[in-house]
Amino acid sequence: MRTMWKGRFEKETSNLVQQYGESVSYDWRLYAHDIRGSIAHARGLERAGILTADERSQIEKGLAEIREEIEAGTFAFKTSLEDVHMNIESALTEKIGAAGAKLHTARSRNDQVATDTRLYCKDAIVEIIGEIHSLQKSLLGRCTAYPNAVVPGYTHLQRGQPVLFAHHLLAYVEMLSRDTSRLEDAATRLDVCPLGSGALAGSTIPLDRAAVAKDLGFSDISHNSMDAVSDRDYIAEILFALSMLGIHLSRLSEDVILWSSSEFGFVKLSDAHTTGSSLMPQKKNPDVAELTRGKSGRLVGNLTTLLVTIKGLPMTYNRDLQEDKEPLFDSIDTSLLALRVFSEMITAMEIQEEKTLAATSDPMLLATDVADYLVKKGIPFRKAHEIVGTLVGICDRENRELPNLTLPEYQAVDPVFEKDVFSIFSIATALAARTAIGAPSPTNVTAEVARWEAKLTS
Ligand code: ARG
Repeated sequence: MRTMWKGRFEKETSNLVQQYGESVSYDWRLYAHDIRGSIAHARGLERAGILTADERSQIEKGLAEIREEIEAGTFAFKTSLEDVHMNIESALTEKIGAAGAKLHTARSRNDQVATDTRLYCKDAIVEIIGEIHSLQKSLLGRCTAYPNAVVPGYTHLQRGQPVLFAHHLLAYVEMLSRDTSRLEDAATRLDVCPLGSGALAGSTIPLDRAAVAKDLGFSDISHNSMDAVSDRDYIAEILFALSMLGIHLSRLSEDVILWSSSEFGFVKLSDAHTTGSSLMPQKKNPDVAELTRGKSGRLVGNLTTLLVTIKGLPMTYNRDLQEDKEPLFDSIDTSLLALRVFSEMITAMEIQEEKTLAATSDPMLLATDVADYLVKKGIPFRKAHEIVGTLVGICDRENRELPNLTLPEYQAVDPVFEKDVFSIFSIATALAARTAIGAPSPTNVTAEVARWEAKLTS
């Protein structure tokens, strides 16, 4: 196979080098965007007087056929042609001859690959955001199915204060919405067309770059040809956003793993989303959550791979940059699948309300409310904290619970206690009192669920 740069070379590229340098085994995925880019470029060349209308039309037709062949699985990608760009161009020239050989005028694979990748990223971001929304809806579905389920809120993995289960799930809806906004933000910044930057210094052919960019649906054009072909910060941004998404999913995974353990027993996962053990017949393992927690490591790894690849590269394009695609594709695939499977698992997840209620009924979860009671009676919070600490100490030593201490025992610690102290020990009262914005009173949580439902359906 003669390569595209055959002019000044006397020897064929070594087989090992072909094997080492080929990227078509993975960058074939850019085919649709490469074809879109080439069609827009051909129209640009026509406007610049390089192609006739007939040549441009032959190119469009030829590329459309190639797209169909690729989609039908009949197109033979050749590793000897290195990458998707040269495979498509070579097939086009084979199909239509001279007009195909004119397509690469005023273009380099450097601005071509940057254009294709940006177009690809724009589409991928839309797809990922759609899946994030689906997962958010699955979480909201659990909120509305179990509006009264309570659960201990934890700090340091020690029971802290009671919350509604829905409040806990809504925390993830919030995190996921920031993941969406990070991706949208990345999409805005990468929405710039590099085509026309050539290898690094543009072209002497007068191309109307703005028209080409408009044709491709970009909002802007790049303003420095060297920057346009050499930076991959837009990929790094996506890989960070996906790492953060992965870390959020990993934390949710950890919660699901704990909740589904016999020790917690807060949720039951569907058989469809768990696996058994080949040895221990009683086991039902939360593999989806474990895999998601594990795969978040890959997402962080992909970000690291790209950052290290870019670091220290001299201007402008260097072949190292070909290494940007596998981490990008892997993070996109991993995130999409994780979101889809997670959404399915959450939709089918049952909350064991008796178990969560039993765990939340530990009266110690309301110790802070007792301190707040004292504060309302004029005692400074630090002092109130100490008083309640003394009461907790008594309970601890005597193996008793706060609601079972007598009023005289309360008053022995501080005379300000009155018999209304006992009304504190109700989860319903404790939750209803948490009315500040962002706190888990049932009224607030219901409103938050409604707010998110409206937001996600609009
Ligand atoms: N496959 C290459 C990549 O992904 C395309 C650009 C090649 N450019 C070059 N000057 N060799 O980076």
